[in-house]
Amino acid sequence: MTVLHNDTFLRALLKQPVDYTPIWMMRQAGRYLSEYKATRVRAGSFLELCKNTELATEVTIQPLDRFALDAAILFSDILTVPDAMGLGLYFAEGEGPKFTRPVQSEADVAALAVPDMDKLRYVFDAVASIRRALNGRVPLIGFSGSPFTLACYMVEGGGSKEFRTIKSMLYARPDLLHRILEINAAAVTAYLNEQIAAGAQAVQIFDSWGGVLSDAAFEEFSLRYLTQIINGLQREAEGQRVPVIVFVKGGGLWLEKMSTCGADALGLDWTCNIGAARQRVGAQVALQGNFDPMALFGTPDAIEAEVARILAAYGSGSGHVFNLGHGINQFTNPEHAKVLVDAVHRLSRPYHP
Ligand code: CP3
Repeated sequence: MTVLHNDTFLRALLKQPVDYTPIWMMRQAGRYLSEYKATRVRAGSFLELCKNTELATEVTIQPLDRFALDAAILFSDILTVPDAMGLGLYFAEGEGPKFTRPVQSEADVAALAVPDMDKLRYVFDAVASIRRALNGRVPLIGFSGSPFTLACYMVEGGGSKEFRTIKSMLYARPDLLHRILEINAAAVTAYLNEQIAAGAQAVQIFDSWGGVLSDAAFEEFSLRYLTQIINGLQREAEGQRVPVIVFVKGGGLWLEKMSTCGADALGLDWTCNIGAARQRVGAQVALQGNFDPMALFGTPDAIEAEVARILAAYGSGSGHVFNLGHGINQFTNPEHAKVLVDAVHRLSRPYHP
């Protein structure tokens, strides 16, 4: 067991005192970095990159060598789980993820099962390899998609704008969708527990599409399964608490009910004021966010001003992990990401006297 040299991120999630506000960026390893694109070419494709332990480790570390980030995140994808269920994941150039065998009919749902975790061994091997490569530099975050967000891709067969297929199922055959969500929740619980056993020191559950649901449907088809997963997670490893972060894009209206799902922290997109969010749920959970990733297209001065605004809105004391409100855009100038990271570190010190 190696010593953790920078535990600021874990301390902030547990609202323990810190010297400055820690930061990591959703999708911090990716196409906005030329070195990522070079490694991806060597791997052959995005999926082969995910499945190659050595190269997945390399791209996880790349953003840490450029920026003073306070956490690393496993390089993988949320869609590895439905892929292991046999749905046939592929990436059509310029079109995003797709499945050859989407889950749409009653027979498709009946055939669905929790995958053998051995099919996802490459992910757990990557976690162990990244921990060795980090050697205590910063903590490693493991992750998964939420049952509902995974179901969106599984039922639609890829990305979607209207979510007509899954919403038709939700309103016409809720029993079928519940069956899919039960299986997804069991799969995600096992998957995250394996990541924790392999060395993940915190985990984030991405509910990227929870925000497209109605208030009542969010509770019934997303939050309920998030709660079920969190209740089944191993919350301690290597003598340390393993914090859980729940990120629901578009979930700002539901913070109160989300704060009781058992998560240590809630991720915020850029649409809410983080100070108002702290007033609403800050006693229950830490908060992560919430810089608009598109604000990285502003000038360095504008980036610093926006950082200052978010830090002031949160105010003094621990419990804030700085992040983007969603993944970094592939056309972002990496120099601007550096301005962001350095500004968070420098400008946050007065808030941690
Ligand atoms: O944050 C990180 O650096 C870790 C890696 C990570 C990836 N995907 C790598 C990736 C994480 C945490 C994810 C999560 C993920 N994947 C989510 C949830 C977060 C979110 O963005 O809401 C979702 C919905 C997916 C599904 C997915 N995978 C999509 C929609 C795409 C296409 C995106 C695009 O910009 O074209 C992917 C592919 C993907 N996952 C890439 C990366 C770096 C781009 C692949 C490439 O190199 O071409």
